[in-house]
Amino acid sequence: MEGRKIKIPMPSALSSRSDRNPIRIAVLASGRGSNFQAIIDSIKAGACSADIVVLIANKPDAKAIGRARENNIPVEIVERKSFPSREALDERIKELLDKYGVELAVLAGYMLLLKGKKLLDSYRNRIINIHPALLPSFPGVDAQKQAFDYGARISGITIHFVDENLDAGPIIYQEAVDISGCRTAEEAAHKILEAEHRAYPKVVDSFAKGKYVLEGRRVKYVRG
Ligand code: GRF
Repeated sequence: MEGRKIKIPMPSALSSRSDRNPIRIAVLASGRGSNFQAIIDSIKAGACSADIVVLIANKPDAKAIGRARENNIPVEIVERKSFPSREALDERIKELLDKYGVELAVLAGYMLLLKGKKLLDSYRNRIINIHPALLPSFPGVDAQKQAFDYGARISGITIHFVDENLDAGPIIYQEAVDISGCRTAEEAAHKILEAEHRAYPKVVDSFAKGKYVLEGRRVKYVRG
């Protein structure tokens, strides 16, 4: 693997994709869905070459669901309690990604770790997540508060591939956010969230245009 170059998206089904075709994405969310909204808005503005073909939510009261309905995006709800195991839940997610012909699954505040081997293997390098800190610092929940409480002056955002481990897959994009002037963790979180909203649609658009190459665990951005 080390040193081998993989153009992403790389599965053979995608090899014929042209940068004129919007990429078919699923968004997975558990709550507020502001990143989901940022992607919707960017698509509408013509700045993100993607079609959101489905929202997958694991909470029936997720605010993201209302955003999907307002934008005529199909919604699938996969509640943990409806499945005998996390593996079974993730298998259902894999089935949904297959059913909707998803090329890229975009986790946007999806609060469950993906554990299903079939899902992770089938969609390797085609599931991305956004984390509100500069990984590997401050993984897990409440990353903004972790950074603020630690006294970090600079935190930021990380967009990365999802693998078996928590917030640990290859890093696609990072951006620093200066939180030294923030008086509360909430203020820091707000500043970080603004960076998320700017960056996530751009990264999705770069995927659509086939701009990323994976070498080992290093993701290169191809210019031109
Ligand atoms: C964001 O801060 C994101 O980085 C993290 O969960 C939060 C989701 O917010 N993974 P929203 O649901 O997109 O508003």
